[in-house]
Amino acid sequence: MRNREKTIELTGIVKRFYIGKPHELEILHGIDLTVYKGEFVSIVGASGSGKSTLMNIIGVLDRPTEGEYRLDGLDISALKDQELSRIRNQKIGFVFQTYNLISRTSALKNVELPMMYAGIGRKERAQRARHYLEMVGMEERMSHKPDELSGGQKQRVSIARAMANDPSIILADEPTGALDSKTGRRIMDIFHRLNREEGKTIVLITHSNELAAETDRIITIRDGEITGERRGA
Ligand SMILES: Nc1ncnc2c1ncn2[C@@H]1O[C@H](COP(=O)(O)OP(=O)(O)O)[C@@H](O)[C@H]1O
Ligand SMILES: [Mg+2]
Repeated sequence: MRNREKTIELTGIVKRFYIGKPHELEILHGIDLTVYKGEFVSIVGASGSGKSTLMNIIGVLDRPTEGEYRLDGLDISALKDQELSRIRNQKIGFVFQTYNLISRTSALKNVELPMMYAGIGRKERAQRARHYLEMVGMEERMSHKPDELSGGQKQRVSIARAMANDPSIILADEPTGALDSKTGRRIMDIFHRLNREEGKTIVLITHSNELAAETDRIITIRDGEITGERRGA
């Protein structure tokens, strides 16, 4: 499903890392990529090809060295770090391979956290966190801490957390990379549902051509350049 309204627009994105003068490492060499609202896009490429670097730019966790990034029409380069944090908190939900949950606190509190940053009151926060945990089938284990959960369950909690502020975009960096294929399948099904039923735009990084083939569009990245694009399911 795509309504041709752009949400992510990258033009000529270059990323260099400065690893002590005079060394600089150019990782992304001029990426042009447009993602439309409601699209489910996958990015595939070998390890070290620059996928996470690109994802961090899309997620405004990092800034490009050169090039333009427009997110819902807004020129990201013109914004201060504080404004970027707010945009990240409101517009984007992140899912990582290693979950990045806070281990000393419950699943419920993990999901509440982004809402706390957004200034949502305690009662509403808890209510919404419960709702999102139910959505991923984790209502029975809301008070469990991450260490008491399996990998697949942790990833479901992290998807609930990604949904916390009802973002329009979900960025998932190898979300099934640490899971067995059956559990990974279940995680993919959740993404498909969020895309179809909630209209979320999803950008998925994966090593699996099989999983990528289920998405609307498959982008291939190699040595910091987009080398191909094909339609998926
Ligand atoms: N902060 C950094 N400083 C220096 N090099 C980096 C940094 N982040 C990533 N790189 C390098 O950029 C390349 C691409 O990394 P990455 O985007 O993580 O690839 P992928 O996610 O496709 O495996 C790698 O060679 C990596 O070592
Ligand atoms: Mg990576």
